[in-house]
Amino acid sequence: MKNSPKRLIQGVVLILAALLMFLFLAMLERVSDPLPKFALYGILVALGCVVVGIVMSFARGEAQKKERTYNMQKTIAVIKGDGIGPEIVTEALKVLDKIAEKYNHKFTYKPVLMGGCAIDETDVPLPQQTIDVCQCADSVLLGAVGGPKWDSLPGDKRPEKGLLGLRGALGLFANIRPSHLNPVLADACPLKDEIVGDGIDLMVVRELIGGAYFGKRETFVKDGEKVAYDTTQYSDSEVERVARVAFQMARKRRSKVTSVDKANVLDSSRLWREVVERVAKDYPDVEFSNMLVDNCAMQLVRNPGQFDVIVTENLFGDILTDEASMITGSIGMIPSASLGAGNLGLYEPIHGSAPDIAGQDKANPIATILSAAMMLRYSFDMDVEAKNIEDAVQKVLEAGYRTGDIMSEGCKQVGCKEMGDLICQNI
Ligand SMILES: NC(=O)c1ccc[n+]([C@@H]2O[C@H](COP(=O)([O-])OP(=O)(O)OC[C@H]3O[C@@H](n4cnc5c(N)ncnc54)[C@H](O)[C@@H]3O)[C@@H](O)[C@H]2O)c1
Repeated sequence: MKNSPKRLIQGVVLILAALLMFLFLAMLERVSDPLPKFALYGILVALGCVVVGIVMSFARGEAQKKERTYNMQKTIAVIKGDGIGPEIVTEALKVLDKIAEKYNHKFTYKPVLMGGCAIDETDVPLPQQTIDVCQCADSVLLGAVGGPKWDSLPGDKRPEKGLLGLRGALGLFANIRPSHLNPVLADACPLKDEIVGDGIDLMVVRELIGGAYFGKRETFVKDGEKVAYDTTQYSDSEVERVARVAFQMARKRRSKVTSVDKANVLDSSRLWREVVERVAKDYPDVEFSNMLVDNCAMQLVRNPGQFDVIVTENLFGDILTDEASMITGSIGMIPSASLGAGNLGLYEPIHGSAPDIAGQDKANPIATILSAAMMLRYSFDMDVEAKNIEDAVQKVLEAGYRTGDIMSEGCKQVGCKEMGDLICQNI
C-alpha cells in the first residue's frame, strides 16, 4: 500500500514517455532537415532512457522486496526455563519452524540455561555463557523461570534474579505488553459488558532496567529490629528513551499516550513527568496526558477503553501490566517484548512458570507463540510472518479450540501440544 502512489506516478510517466516516443517517431518520418532530425533523435534517446530507468527501478524494487521477505537467517537464543517453560517454548519453536519453512527463512536456535534449571546445573541463575550467547544472538525467546524448589534461596540466588540480570546485561529498557480483548474470548473478561464497551486494546510500555528493582537497597538491624529499604532513582535520559518508545508506538496505533506516575508524592515521579512532558512536545500529533498511578489502577477497571499507550516506570508498570492483562482474560494469552536501543529483544509470555500444571500438557502455549510473533515483527522486521501467526491463533480460537485456562461452554478442550499443532496447521 505504501508504494501505491509511487507506482501510479511511475506508470503514468511510463505511458507518457511511450506516447511521446511514438509521436516523435511519427514526426521523424516527415522531417528531412538534418538539424531538427538530430534533435528529435536526441529527445527519442532521452525518452528511451526514462522508460528503461523506470522498468529497471521497478524490477529492482521487486527483487529487493523478495530479498527482504525471503531467505533471512536469524539466530535465536532459547531459554526454556522452569515449570511449563519447556512445554510452551517447544510449541513456539514448532510454529517458528513452520514459518521458516513457508517463507524460506533459516532460524538457528541456541539453547541456554537461566533460572532454576541454571541454578541446578551451574549454581547461579544466570551463567555468563547465557549472557554471551544472548548478546551474540539476533533475539532471545524465553519461557518462564522460577518455582517452589528454589523459593527458599536468598534474594540474589533466586531464579528471578537471572531474568533481571539478563534484561540489564542486554540493555533492554522498554517492556511492551499489549492488552487486547479478543472478541472470541469475551467470556473470559471479568468486567461488565457496559464497562468493556467497544473493547479493550491498549499497550503498556514499562521502563525495565531502572527504578526500585535496580536501585540501592539494604536490610539491616537497628535498635534490635530488622529494617529494610529500596530506592527508586531515574535519570533524565532513562526516562526520555522509554518515553520516545511510547510515543513512537502510539503513532502506529491510535496516537494517544498516558504517562503514569506518582508526581504528587515522589521526586523520581516529578522528574519522570517533567521529562515525558518535554518529550511530548516532539510529538504534537500524539494526544498526551498524565495520570497518577492510583487513579490509573482504578481507571483500568472502570473505563479501560480510554487508554491507547500507557508509559510508566518499572514498579508501577509491573503492577499495572498484570492488572491490564487480567481484564482481558487469561494470562496464558498475553505476549511481551523487551526492547533496547538496537534490534535485539527478549520475548516472553507475561505469565510465570505455573508449577501447578507443569509437565501435564495443560499449559496454554499461545502467549509464548504470540511472543514469537512479536519477535518476528519487532526484531526481524517480518510483519507478514508475524501476522500469519496471529491470524493462525485467531482461526484456531474461532474454531472453538481452547486450553483449560480459557475453556468455556461449547468449546473443545485441547492440551498444550495439540494447541501448538493446530496453530501450525493454520499457518
Ligand atoms: N517472567 C517469569 O519468568 C516469571 C513471571 C512471573 C512469575 N514467575 C515465577 O513463576 C512461579 C509461579 O508464579 P505464580 O504462580 O505466581 O504465577 P504463574 O503465572 O506462574 O501462575 C499463576 C496461575 O496462572 C496459571 N497459568 C500461568 N500461565 C499459564 C499458562 N500458560 N497456561 C495455563 N495456565 C497458566 C497457573 O497455573 C497459575 O494457576 C514463581 O516462581 C514466580 O516467581 C516467573
